[in-house]
Amino acid sequence: MRLFLDTANIDHIRHGVQLGVITGVTTNPSLVSKEGKVDYKRLVQEICSIVPGPVSTEVLSQDVAGMVAEARQIAAWAENVVVKIPASLEGVEATHQLAREGIRVNFTLCFSVNQALLAAAAGATFVSPFVGRLDDIGENGMRLVGDIVEVFKKYPDSIKTQVIAASIRHPHHCVQAAEAGAQIATVPHQVLIQMIRHPLTDIGVSRFMEDWRKVMGEGKNT
Ligand code: E4P
Repeated sequence: MRLFLDTANIDHIRHGVQLGVITGVTTNPSLVSKEGKVDYKRLVQEICSIVPGPVSTEVLSQDVAGMVAEARQIAAWAENVVVKIPASLEGVEATHQLAREGIRVNFTLCFSVNQALLAAAAGATFVSPFVGRLDDIGENGMRLVGDIVEVFKKYPDSIKTQVIAASIRHPHHCVQAAEAGAQIATVPHQVLIQMIRHPLTDIGVSRFMEDWRKVMGEGKNT
């Protein structure tokens, strides 16, 4: 499973890329707004220059013509840009038009297998089931990820759409997304940090150092 970073924060993105584990970024209007009043195009172009892989950038229009026009502009900002289109009927039509033009779409705000099937039929490159938001209303977000993966697997010749487990809230979601077979999980920076943390690792390192110092003193073995 590949990891994307779910943020528009440049420092966090630089950090994730520097770690060597982040191969893409997903943004949305809320995440961009968190960065203050920015020049959207310049911010996305900067992110695209840092990240080696796809950078999802959402349209703000909700009608087909508006979404398509906006998506065409966004797609011209950088080679690795992917346009995020919401899972509406208008979004399906826009996705179909954009896919025919070779513009990659991340079909976002997906909350059902049917929405994912339409994303695939329309030619979306990615579909993003939102796990945390389903959990928030008492449903099982990760089950949806697993269901979409299983259904897509039955049609390997016709469905090439990749599943991005999105709205990830904690490290266990990452484990579950991998177990469910998602091709990608897009994670907040905080969750990325939490993925490596384990108290037994910290205790283990200090104990090794302590034992070493007791016998060898402060010096290193080089
Ligand atoms: C995904 O592409 C979205 O940007 C994101 O995962 C939404 O997460 P949230 O539900 O925590 O806002």
